[in-house]
Amino acid sequence: MLSKKIQKSLSAQLNHEFYSAYLYLAMSAYCSQSDFKGVASWLKMQYEEEHMHATKIYNYLIEQGAQVSLIEIAKPPKNFGTILNVFQMSLKHEQMMTSKLNELSNLALKEKDHATYNLLQWFVNEQVEEESSVSEIISKIKLVNGDGYGLLMIDNELNQRSSPAPIK
Ligand code: FEO
Repeated sequence: MLSKKIQKSLSAQLNHEFYSAYLYLAMSAYCSQSDFKGVASWLKMQYEEEHMHATKIYNYLIEQGAQVSLIEIAKPPKNFGTILNVFQMSLKHEQMMTSKLNELSNLALKEKDHATYNLLQWFVNEQVEEESSVSEIISKIKLVNGDGYGLLMIDNELNQRSSPAPIK
């Protein structure tokens, strides 16, 4: 049985994950319109992954017999500037998510809620991977320094990302 505080915090995290999905979908639409099809495809995969993160929290809340009350998802921005800006925004967003998950993990430990703590460690590890892959993309974009051919190569590379594996 989850405490009210944990239920409330996990519900808030559920909303943040849905917002993340929404944000990446908005970024994907923006990049599609800017003809960066590979970047758009990568961001759409990220949208799918974030949607699965939200579902993972939702499933856990249901499994634990918690009360789930869904709230509205904030509106994401429409314009993101350059491709470098897109990924810099993504990194900033993921760093914010990491900090929220760390706070939640601290709360779970404080409440001696080890089941929730275990769930959250999966997310904490996932964040390490996400921050690292976005940082790597930022480094590559900076390396080509606006060169059209270089950006095309990055766009092609990002197009190779496949759909995330289903979450258990
Ligand atoms: Fe699910 Fe990228 O945070």
